[in-house]
Amino acid sequence: SLIVPSVQELAKEPIVKIPIRYLRQDQDPPMVSNDMHAPSVPIINLQSLLTGESMIYELEKLHSACKDWGFFQIIDHGVSPSLLEEFRRQVIDFFNLPMEDKKKLWQQPDNHEGFGQLFVVSEEQKLDWSDMFYITTLPVNQRKIELFETLPTKLREMMEAYSEEMKKVAMTLLSQMAKALKMDDNEIAEIFGDGVQSMRMNYYPPCPEPESTIGFTPHSDAVALTILFQLNETEGLQIRKDGKWVPVKPLRNAFVVNVGDIMEIVSNGVYRSIEHRATVNSDSERLSVATFYSSNLNSELGPAHSLVGPNNPPVFRQMPIEKYFKKFFARKLNGKSYLDFMKF
Ligand code: SIN
Ligand code: FE2
Repeated sequence: SLIVPSVQELAKEPIVKIPIRYLRQDQDPPMVSNDMHAPSVPIINLQSLLTGESMIYELEKLHSACKDWGFFQIIDHGVSPSLLEEFRRQVIDFFNLPMEDKKKLWQQPDNHEGFGQLFVVSEEQKLDWSDMFYITTLPVNQRKIELFETLPTKLREMMEAYSEEMKKVAMTLLSQMAKALKMDDNEIAEIFGDGVQSMRMNYYPPCPEPESTIGFTPHSDAVALTILFQLNETEGLQIRKDGKWVPVKPLRNAFVVNVGDIMEIVSNGVYRSIEHRATVNSDSERLSVATFYSSNLNSELGPAHSLVGPNNPPVFRQMPIEKYFKKFFARKLNGKSYLDFMKF
């Protein structure tokens, strides 16, 4: 990544026009759908998925959410509200640290972890109206020790606790998806056991020209599964559904989950990784934390063996996972087209 200025700092200045680097006339404006009858992202009850009489019904719901939407929200997920509250507090304080402190945690030219923006590959490239903090959390041996040691202690503690919870939720969801797909059980452990987890904390400041910019460029997630925690009730996330941008309404203490490219590949195209973006607005800031879960570093990326056969030819090719991520980080975000390099 190239080094970028802080948008949070920029937004503190009394500006009425945003700098040209943030002007995105190439993007659809935020537009909020007023259609009360428009369908919204399905809600899955994790507790009902795991026990009780409605398990089969809930699994069917999960399966169609992953096929038809690529997105859903989970409630009754078992993560303690007090942990969420503490973590939320720490993340808010983290973005409110003075710039002198944040500088020590800013991205370096040869590394994408830290504060800044991802996928910036040229000085001319347009930028998003947001700051983010990106960090690899699991497996433990992939952590950047210096970065962890520079974090405020309380944030680090909460992040570690939250990371464990997110791993559990991700593994539960992945094994339920495998069940719904009729995938071989062992394959889930083989591909996703000890998987790579990273976190991206997002801060979207209010913007004087929300119609002309974008908080997070449209993209699909390269990972297997993303679990998004929206820290406040400000809307911003939109997904592309049948050619239209559909807002995802924040639901307090629920998580928004989405199928990433890896899961689309593993499911041989049955589950869909959907393009999404974040918009900004002129009156309120917005904060979110996305936790990404991917296959482990020993895995070969490709359709699950148990899902391909004479009647189901593979749609995607095989590729070592590290090569796949190298390709991913070297690009500019631009919708979803890059999955093409995996297609036959
Ligand atoms: C994303 O992770 O792609 C969207 C994040 C957000 O909704 O803030
Ligand atoms: Fe995303």
